[in-house]
Amino acid sequence: MKKKILALVLLILTSLSSTAEGEEGYVLQKAPIDLYNKASLQKGAKLFVNYCMGCHSLEHQRYNRMARDIGLTDAQVKENLIFTDAKVGELMRNSMPKSDAKRWFGVAPPDLSLIARARGVDYLYTYLQTFYLDPTRPFGVNNAVFPNVGMPHAIWELQGWQKPVYESGSSKSGGDNKVISGFELVEPGQMSTPEFKEAIADLVNFLAYVGEPIQLERQRIGVWVVLFLFLASVVFYLLKKEYWKDIH
Ligand code: HEC
Repeated sequence: MKKKILALVLLILTSLSSTAEGEEGYVLQKAPIDLYNKASLQKGAKLFVNYCMGCHSLEHQRYNRMARDIGLTDAQVKENLIFTDAKVGELMRNSMPKSDAKRWFGVAPPDLSLIARARGVDYLYTYLQTFYLDPTRPFGVNNAVFPNVGMPHAIWELQGWQKPVYESGSSKSGGDNKVISGFELVEPGQMSTPEFKEAIADLVNFLAYVGEPIQLERQRIGVWVVLFLFLASVVFYLLKKEYWKDIH
């Protein structure tokens, strides 16, 4: 009986410890998330509306809420981040009809409001950096953590094109299989590799914020709550001293 319980505990523990690997065993990179970095959030928002919003919406996010949270004015958002006739109080939708999208890509681009929570920021950070040339795919690209992805390489202008470098490993079934161990840039984009990495960090930072916009506010309120509790403690301490002074 004891052994059975021990086995069960071990099983649960091993299933809990995440191995931080993509589906094909490609190791995920740690995303440097910093929700307090407003400059990074602003750069991420700009990248999103320029390179992603043609296909992906943020159905739970309003432009003006985003403006307030990431430190922009409504006018700045209107001028720089809205390319349609959407009003600043509207949700960040796009005008791509879902049925057309499905026909073009085989699968409709998902709404990305909650993607950071659904997939995790490390996955997004790695996913967006690991599109690689694959002539067998409809858009000529594949992805290291999302094999046979239906999304084209939306940010090729910035990153350029890369091809995979393989290392042969043995698969669990015993046969040989090719494992991607890295990439080689075959055609540079507008950004250098470190610049591109930083841009993706900004983009993922922005998606992390979008996944939980209240997070920034909660922390802001939290500071005041702690400050209040501290001041209240001082007052209570002084009161206690006052009440007890005649008894001692
Ligand atoms: C040309 C259209 C298009 C553009 C532009 C585009 N995507 Fe996609 N994206 C798709 C499609 C289609 C899918 C669905 C892929 C699938 O399920 O095979 C997708 C899926 C995704 C996913 C989900 C991956 C998963 O694991 O489920 C994420 C995250 C994503 N896109 C992020 C982005 C970001 C960030 C940008 C901007 C840099 C972007 N996309 C630009 C079409 C696009």
